[in-house]
Amino acid sequence: MGNQEIYLSENNSPARSGRTVRAITTAVLLTAACGYFFGSGIDLSTPEVPGAIGYKEGNFTWTKCYDQYDCSTLEVPIDYHNPHSAKFNLSLIRMKATEEPSYGPLFVNPGGPGGSGVSLVQLAGDVISKSVGGHYDIIGFDPRGVANSNPIRCFEDGTESKFFLANRGFYLNPGDNPANFAIVLEAYSKQCIRKNPDFLPYVSTAFVARDIDALRDAFGQELTNYWGFSYGTFLGATYVNMFPDRVGRVLLDGVTDPTTFSGEIVDWISTSLIHTEDGLDKFGTSCEEAGPEKCALAHPDKALAFDGEHYVAPTIRAFLKRMAYHPLLVEGSPDVILQTDAAALIFAATYKVSDWPAVAEAFAQAIYKSEGNGFMKWKKERQAERCPLVEEYTLDAMPILCIDGHHNDHLNLTSYLEGVDKASKNVSPLAAPLWGSLFAQCLYWKVKAAERFTGPWNHGLKNKIMLIGVTGDPVTPVESAEKLERLMDGNSVFHKHHGWGHCSTGQSSKCTTKVIHDYFANGVLPEKGSECPMETVPFQTAFETFDNGISVDDYTRLANALKGF
Ligand SMILES: *[C@@H]1O[C@H](CO)[C@@H](O)[C@H](O)[C@H]1NC(C)=O
Ligand SMILES: *[C@@H]1O[C@H](CO)[C@@H](O)[C@H](O)[C@H]1NC(C)=O
Ligand SMILES: *[C@@H]1O[C@H](CO)[C@@H](O)[C@H](O)[C@H]1NC(C)=O
Repeated sequence: MGNQEIYLSENNSPARSGRTVRAITTAVLLTAACGYFFGSGIDLSTPEVPGAIGYKEGNFTWTKCYDQYDCSTLEVPIDYHNPHSAKFNLSLIRMKATEEPSYGPLFVNPGGPGGSGVSLVQLAGDVISKSVGGHYDIIGFDPRGVANSNPIRCFEDGTESKFFLANRGFYLNPGDNPANFAIVLEAYSKQCIRKNPDFLPYVSTAFVARDIDALRDAFGQELTNYWGFSYGTFLGATYVNMFPDRVGRVLLDGVTDPTTFSGEIVDWISTSLIHTEDGLDKFGTSCEEAGPEKCALAHPDKALAFDGEHYVAPTIRAFLKRMAYHPLLVEGSPDVILQTDAAALIFAATYKVSDWPAVAEAFAQAIYKSEGNGFMKWKKERQAERCPLVEEYTLDAMPILCIDGHHNDHLNLTSYLEGVDKASKNVSPLAAPLWGSLFAQCLYWKVKAAERFTGPWNHGLKNKIMLIGVTGDPVTPVESAEKLERLMDGNSVFHKHHGWGHCSTGQSSKCTTKVIHDYFANGVLPEKGSECPMETVPFQTAFETFDNGISVDDYTRLANALKGF
């Protein structure tokens, strides 16, 4: 959750010229938006369709795309409540079932909001397919307003967006004037709203749920099968309660609290981040235990702080405090690293245990040598991997996030920042200021959802569904999964996954992969009180392969393909 990709856009153009190459470097510096810092795995090149010979199957014409997949579209109305509504196309991708019998489509959502289901399947559809025993057609769809499903664009073209974004950071840094920060968000919001006035009220999650049901229908299915991660759990909880008779096998993995997500945004920040600092502490203690061979920060002699028991997490915290007024240069490059860049890096690391050694390396270089190169190298690597040059920026998370929830208790900037400040003091000094900066956009997002779903969450479902909560999850705490299980009143079964990182993929276990397999492949729900222990030690052990034949690298690929929230 939360790794918002506000200014990241998806477009089709690979880097073309010297000028664009320079622009990339600038974009890296300015936005830090792509890739790691915002944790997305989006890569949306247009599906190349040489000759584009599609074949018809049921209601769909499928065309080969991205080498091994099929792509199609489904036309849906902007407004389901208006029979004369204009229409647009949802963009779809399919990875065919590999095993007989086929159980039909399994829809997936990578989180966000604003994550592209098409890129999720493109990047890791095979891992999802194997995880469910190969019996489903894995179907990714870009939610409305996102990626290739009628994307919300805020600028005329790439030039306009780059000029607008030049030298404007994403986060309010210590010492910044909040009014100057906020006015840019206000201008940006106004610009987006001006350009998309007739569509923005219709991108709320309730409409995305209606799209899923339209997909179910078009696929000729009685029931919907679904695996949603992170924000995808809010989408899933919404879907099953809006269409209770259509619920097939549904897994909500990394559950966010649906009452705060659809409520006051500052409350949602507070309920989401209750274990973020634990994640940082665990990063530190695991590093100390692993020693300097495996963790570059395991040097007690070079520590900046010691709390009587531990030194790595205290050192990172002390360093971030110092960085607030001593940002870093990047040797041999005009780039700079601000405190919030470093904070965003360690925050993002709490999402995935597989990233811990590399992040420790970057911090060691910064702390021991006062160089930002480790951050920069890392940032660029991730960026090159995941964020092709884009000509145009879109604002993918905020249009959904801001209208699903509200900020009624914090109507102006002062009051909002007070709320964020409280969450920083009481919940997470690391993450609350970062999310608080990003979501300040919502104060200026003067759009009202044409339809919101805010519960009740206990509709009687055709089939019970499965929830997964991860004990060390930094953004979707295990308590939220337990809460949703209570709210659903016997219509769901909660499985507790012991581990760190975000969703069951942040630190996978053989035990939980089996629980997921048994559910999707055999229809077996876990028993009430189901739990799986942690099976690996961060920085130290990892499996080669899981019992289902999937390698640990494959699971890392799936974790990387999820979009933060
Ligand atoms: C949706 O896609 C189909 C197939 O490419 C096309 O015929 C149709 O015109 C599109 N609809 C809209 C509203 O763009
Ligand atoms: C095609 O879509 C219609 C209406 O949405 C649905 O009733 C029908 O079952 C679908 N047909 C097939 C073959 O999937
Ligand atoms: C800001 O909002 C708070 C409550 O949300 C209110 O008490 C306060 O008066 C407002 N301040 C201004 C300057 O409007």
